[in-house]
Amino acid sequence: MFPERFLLLSAAGLLFLVTVFSLECTKYNVKTCEECIRSGPGCAWCKKRNFTKVGEPDSIRCDTMQQLQQRGCEGNIIFPESYADPYPLPPPFMKKQIYPETVDLRLRQDQPAVFNVTFHRAADYPIDLYYLMDLSFSMNDDLVNVKKLGGDLLDALNQITSLAKIGFGAFVDKTVLPFVNTHPEKLKNPCPNQESNCQPPFAFRHVLSLTNNVKQFAQQVGAQHISGNLDAPEGGLDAMMQAAVCGSKIGWTNATRLLVYTTDDGFHFAGDGKLGAILTPFDGKCHLEGNMYTKSNEYDYPSVGQLVQKLEENNIQPIFAVTHKVADTYRKLSDMIPKSAVGELQEDSSNVIQLIQDAYNNLSSKIILDHGPIPSFIKISYDSFCPNKIHTKDKPRGECDNVKKNDRITFQVKITATKCVENQVLTIRPLGFTDSLTVNIRSRCNCECDEERLDPSVCSGHGKVDCGICRCHPGFTGKNCDCETGGKSSKELEKTCRKDNASVICSGLGDCVCGQCACHTNDDPKKQIYGQFCECDNVNCELHDGQICGGEGRGRCDCGKCKCNTGFEGSACHCRSTTDGCVDEKGSVCSGRGKCECNTCHCQNGYQRPYCKDCPGCPSPCARYSSCVECLAFESGPLQKNCSTACSNIRLTPKLKDSRACREKDSQNCWISYEIVQEVGEEKYSMKFNPEKECPEPPNVAAIVGGIIAGVALIGLLLLIIWRFVTELIDRREYRRFEKEKAKAKWNDADNPLFKSATTTVVNPRFNGQ
Ligand SMILES: *[C@@H]1O[C@H](CO)[C@@H](O)[C@H](O)[C@H]1NC(C)=O
Ligand SMILES: *[C@@H]1O[C@H](CO)[C@@H](O)[C@H](O)[C@H]1NC(C)=O
Ligand SMILES: *[C@@H]1O[C@H](CO)[C@@H](O)[C@H](O)[C@H]1NC(C)=O
Ligand SMILES: *[C@@H]1O[C@H](CO)[C@@H](O)[C@H](O)[C@H]1NC(C)=O
Ligand SMILES: *[C@@H]1O[C@H](CO)[C@@H](O)[C@H](O)[C@H]1NC(C)=O
Ligand SMILES: *[C@@H]1O[C@H](CO)[C@@H](O)[C@H](O)[C@H]1NC(C)=O
Repeated sequence: MFPERFLLLSAAGLLFLVTVFSLECTKYNVKTCEECIRSGPGCAWCKKRNFTKVGEPDSIRCDTMQQLQQRGCEGNIIFPESYADPYPLPPPFMKKQIYPETVDLRLRQDQPAVFNVTFHRAADYPIDLYYLMDLSFSMNDDLVNVKKLGGDLLDALNQITSLAKIGFGAFVDKTVLPFVNTHPEKLKNPCPNQESNCQPPFAFRHVLSLTNNVKQFAQQVGAQHISGNLDAPEGGLDAMMQAAVCGSKIGWTNATRLLVYTTDDGFHFAGDGKLGAILTPFDGKCHLEGNMYTKSNEYDYPSVGQLVQKLEENNIQPIFAVTHKVADTYRKLSDMIPKSAVGELQEDSSNVIQLIQDAYNNLSSKIILDHGPIPSFIKISYDSFCPNKIHTKDKPRGECDNVKKNDRITFQVKITATKCVENQVLTIRPLGFTDSLTVNIRSRCNCECDEERLDPSVCSGHGKVDCGICRCHPGFTGKNCDCETGGKSSKELEKTCRKDNASVICSGLGDCVCGQCACHTNDDPKKQIYGQFCECDNVNCELHDGQICGGEGRGRCDCGKCKCNTGFEGSACHCRSTTDGCVDEKGSVCSGRGKCECNTCHCQNGYQRPYCKDCPGCPSPCARYSSCVECLAFESGPLQKNCSTACSNIRLTPKLKDSRACREKDSQNCWISYEIVQEVGEEKYSMKFNPEKECPEPPNVAAIVGGIIAGVALIGLLLLIIWRFVTELIDRREYRRFEKEKAKAKWNDADNPLFKSATTTVVNPRFNGQ
C-alpha cells in the first residue's frame, strides 16, 4: 500500500470511528457473530474466550464498541466496517478526466462507504460534432448556408480542441400519409413549386461520418438537396435516435459528443405513428442500411424517455439550434434531457457557429455525475465540492456549474447497502463524457475472526472455537462442550429445565446446561436470579420506604418473600420485633389467642384487641361446657366415662376472678351453678362450681289423675246445668209470645183477606124466580 493511500484510508477510518461511537446496537436473540453484526451498523462482537460468565447468554457478546471495551474486551472486538478501496491513485498528469477508475467496496449492511471522485476538465479534450439537419422545404435557405459551413465550423471547433471531427445527417419524416404526400408524382418531387432540385422525402439519411476532412464535408453536404413533407412537425426524433444508437456508422469516438439538431418546426413523438397506421413501438435499435433508416415506416416514433435514455447511454449531448418560433417547445424538451442546450437559430442559420460555441461552453461547464441503474437495496448519494466553494450535500447525483477548463472538482460518493448483497458492479460517470468509474461492491457481512491455533483442550476437546464461542461436535453440548448428551436429544435434556410442560426453559432467565438451569448472572449482586428453574430473584419483594424489604439493614429478598434480620419483622421487614404492646398485666402475649406482629396483637377470630381477651360475638362457654362441668364436678352425665380426655381443657379451681356465672340444667334435669373463666390460650378454661344441685320434686300421680277426673266431671255437670237453664228460658219466652198473639187474633177465617172460596155463585139479575 502506498503511504499516501494508507494515510487517506486511515483518515477516513478515524472520521468513521467517531461516528461509530455514537451508534447504538439493538439486538434481538443474537447467537452468533454474523447475526450480531447484521443486527445493526453499531453492533460489535467480542470474541474473547471466557467473556461470558456462567449462565450469561452469548448475546452479551454483541453490543456497541464502547460497551464491549468497558467490559474488558479490548483487542478482541470484531467490528467489520464498510470501506472503499479506490485505485489507481491520481497520477501527476491525467489523460482521463475522472479518477479513480475503479473502486472496490466492501459494504457492511446499513453502514455506508465513502470515497471521493475527482473530475478534471481537460483542456484539449476531443470533440465529435454531428450536424443533423431538417431538410423540409422551409429549410431551403438554411441549406444554402450550411453547405458553406464546413470549414468555418471546423475552425471554430479547433479553437476549442485540436481534435475535432464533424459529420452530417439529414431528416424529413416518415414517408406515409399524413406526414408526406404519397402521390407518386409528389413522392418523386415533394416541393411545392416543382423546383427541379428537390429530392424525394426520407426519414433519416446519414450523409457523412465524423471526419476532420473539410473538403469531404463540403462535397457531401454540397450534394444535398431540399425535400418536402406535408405536416409541420418533422420526424426529428427518429433521426436523433438513429444517430445516437448507430455509433459505429456515425463514427463516434471517445470524445465530447455533440449532436447539433437544426430545424424550424416541432417534432413527432411516440403515438403519432398511429396517424399513419404505424403501431409498433420503437425497439431502440439501429436500423441503418446503406445510410438510410429503412424501418421508419414500421416503427413508431421513439418516446422522449427512450431518447433521453439512449442519449445518456451513448454520452451524446444534443444542441437544439432552432428558430424563435419553436424555441420554447425545444426548451421544454431540453429540460427533460440532463445535458442538452437550446439556442435560437436565425431564419437562414447564419448564426449557427456562434450558437454551437455558446452551447458547447454551457454544456461543458456543467458537470453532472450520475450512476447507472442500481438495485433497490443500494443507496447512493453525492456531495459536490464545486468551484467557488459551492457545496451541495446528499443529492441523488453530483452536479456542478461553471466548471472552467483545468478545474478540478470533487464529488464525495456515499454508497450504502441495506442488505447483505451478492457481488454487484455499477458505473459512475460524468454525463456527456465517456470516462467512467467502475464500482465493485461486495458485502462485508461475515465475521473474520481468524481464531489463532488454539490448544486442543479448548472446548473440552469436543468442539472448535468460532468467534469466541464453542461449536461442539455431535453428542456434546454446553458452553465448553463439556456436557455429553448421552444419546439424549436436546429436547429431552431441556425437559428437566422446565418447571412444567407449559413453562419456558429456565423461566426464560437462564440456559439449560446439560439438563440443569444455569441462571443468567448479573454483575450486581442485588439483582440475581436463582432457583432450580431460575424462578427466583432477589428483587421482587415488598418495599418499605422505597427499599426492598426495608433495605439491607432490615432484611433481604428471597424468592418473593422478605427474610428479615433479627430484630425486624413484618412482610416488608418494616417493624422492629418487640412485644411490649402485646403483653398484658399478667405477662401473656395476646392472651395466647393471637400473634404479636409489629407490636400489635392480631387476634384470632372474634377476640378483641389490645390483648385478645374478650370475644363479644363468641357463643357463651356456659352451655358449651355444661357436660364437662357435670362430669368434672359430679362425675355424671354423658361424658362421665371420657371426662379427662374430653374436658382436658378445663381446670377446676377453688377460686376465680372475672368469672362468668352460669346456671344450666344437667342431664338429670337438675340446675347446676358454676363459674367459668377463659385462661390464657386458645380454648382453656378454669371453673368453680356450686356443689349443691337444685333438682325439682317428683310429681304426685294419683292426685293428678283424681284431679283431672274430678275436674272433667265437674265441668260436664256445669255445662249440663247451663244448657238446661238456657233451654227453659227460651221455652218460656216462646210460650208468652204465643199467648199474646192469640189474644190479638180478632178476625175469623172468612175475613182473611187472603182466603178465597173454592166455589163461585153467579146471580142472573133478569131472573125473577119464575
Ligand atoms: C476459560 O475457562 C476455562 C474454565 O473455566 C479455563 O480452563 C480456561 O483456561 C479459560 N480460558 C481462558 C482463555 O481464560
Ligand atoms: C473528499 O473530498 C472532500 C473535499 O476535498 C474532503 O472534505 C473529504 O474528506 C474527502 N472525503 C474522503 C472520503 O476522502
Ligand atoms: C472508448 O473507450 C473505451 C473504454 O475506455 C474503449 O473500450 C473503447 O474501445 C473506446 N472507443 C473508441 C472508439 O475509442
Ligand atoms: C448559455 O448559458 C447562458 C446562461 O446560463 C444562457 O443565457 C444562454 O442562453 C445559454 N446558451 C445556450 C446556447 O444554451
Ligand atoms: C406433559 O406432557 C406429557 C407428554 O407430552 C404428558 O404426558 C403430561 O401429562 C404433561 N403434563 C402436564 C402437567 O401437562
Ligand atoms: C371421648 O371423647 C372424645 C372427644 O369428645 C371422643 O372423640 C371419644 O369418642 C370419646 N370416647 C368415649 C369412649 O366416649
